[in-house]
Amino acid sequence: MADDLAPPDGPLAGKRIVLGVTGGIAAYKSIEVCRRLVDLGAHVTPILTDAALNMVGSTTFKALASEAPKTSLFEDEDPIPHTRMGQRSDALVVCPATARILSDYRTGRSADLLSATLIATEAPVIVCPAMHTEMWEHPSVQDNIAVLLARGVLIVPPEEGRLAGGDSGKGRLASPETIVDAVLGALTIKDLDGRSVLITAGGTREAIDPVRFIGNHSSGKQGYALAAEANRRGARVTLIATTQLPISPDINQETVTTAAQMHEMVTRHADAADVIIMAAAVADFRPVEVAEQKIKKANGTPQITLERTVDILAELGQKKKQGQILVGFAAETNNVAKNAQSKLERKGADFIVANDVSAPDVGFAHDTNAVTIYGADGSTTQVSLRGKDEIARAVFNTVVSADTASTKPARPST
Ligand code: CTP
Repeated sequence: MADDLAPPDGPLAGKRIVLGVTGGIAAYKSIEVCRRLVDLGAHVTPILTDAALNMVGSTTFKALASEAPKTSLFEDEDPIPHTRMGQRSDALVVCPATARILSDYRTGRSADLLSATLIATEAPVIVCPAMHTEMWEHPSVQDNIAVLLARGVLIVPPEEGRLAGGDSGKGRLASPETIVDAVLGALTIKDLDGRSVLITAGGTREAIDPVRFIGNHSSGKQGYALAAEANRRGARVTLIATTQLPISPDINQETVTTAAQMHEMVTRHADAADVIIMAAAVADFRPVEVAEQKIKKANGTPQITLERTVDILAELGQKKKQGQILVGFAAETNNVAKNAQSKLERKGADFIVANDVSAPDVGFAHDTNAVTIYGADGSTTQVSLRGKDEIARAVFNTVVSADTASTKPARPST
C-alpha cells in the first residue's frame, strides 16, 4: 500500500483523511490531491460517489491511496462505515464538490456514503467546489455556501479559468497545491497564534550599471517555505523578498531588490515582530558607484570599487527587544559548525540555521536542504536532507520551544 511509502515524520503523519470525490469533470484532479496527501504522511481513505465513478476509476485510487476506495454504504462488513469513518477521521476533504453534495451537506440529507459520512463527523471539513459559472453563481448554491461557512466548514473557492465544454469563467477547481495547503492549514496546531513573524527571502542584487549586477544563487524557496509554515501555524506574517513565488494572500509581502532596500524594509517592520528570520542572502558588498550608462567593453576593463553593506542581522541583534527571537542563516562551504557558532556570537542571534551548500541537493535553488540549527543556549538540532517545507517546520519547532520557554505564561493574543 502507498501508506508504507509515506514519510514517518511528514506534516500529516498519523492523520486519517477521508477524501470524498463527487461527479464533476474536475474529479481527475482529486487523484493528484490524494497522491500529495499520502506523500505528506496522511492515511487517505477515498470515498467515490456513483457519479464520481463515471469520471475516474476506483483502480487509480486503489493504487495511490492508503486503502481501497469506498463506494457504497453497504459494501463493507461494517454495517455503519460512515459513522466509523466520520468518527476516526482527522479531516474530510470533498474534492471536487458538486452543487448536489453542497445541497445534501447543507440540509443533512444522508443520500449516500459520502453525504452520510459528512454528517457523522466532528472533524474539520474542507469543501472544494467546482462547477460551471452559472451554477456557482446561482443563489441556491451561494446560499448553501454561506450556510456551510457559517457552520465552520472550510471552503476552498473555485478559481477563474477553463471549464468543461470549452467554456471559461469562475468555477474551476482550485489547484491541488491550494487544496493540500488548506488541508495542512486545517490540521496544523496554531502555536504561533497572535505572534508576528518577519521573514526575508531571496538574494539581493547590487547594480553595477543599468544591465549588470552583483548577485548570488539564492532562489528564495527556503524563505517562502518558512513564511508558509508560519502562516499555517497562525502567525501574522510579513515576507520581505527579492523574488516572486506563489504564496498565500494572508501573507503581507514586500518586494525589494538591493541590500539597502532590504535593510530599510526590515527596519520598518522589525519592531512589531516577535520572531525575525533572516533567510535572505544579503550582499555583503556593493559597488561604490553605479554607472548611469551601460559600461562598454570598448572602453577597457572597468575597475569596480566595492563597499560594505549594512549587516542587517547584526544590527537587529544589537537592537533586539525583550522576548524577540532572532534567527539567521549561514550558507557555508567549509567549517560549518565553527562558522555558525561564530555568527551566533557576532550577530547576536538566538539561532543560526547552517547548511553546507557544497553538499549535493543542499541549499541554493534546490527544493531540498539539510541543516543544523545552532542555538545561543548551546543547543544543536540536526535536520537531514528533506524538502524545504520540512526544514521550515523544524525551524519553527525550535523557535516555538524557545518562545514557550521565554514567555511562560503565554502572552495574550493581540
Ligand atoms: N546578513 C545580513 N546582512 C548582510 C549579510 C548577511 O543580515 N549584509 C544575514 C543573512 O541574512 C544571514 C546571516 O546574516 O541570516 C549570515 O549571512 P552570511 O552571508 O552567511 O554571513 P556573513 O556575515 O557574510 O559572514 P561571512 O562573510 O563570514 O560568511
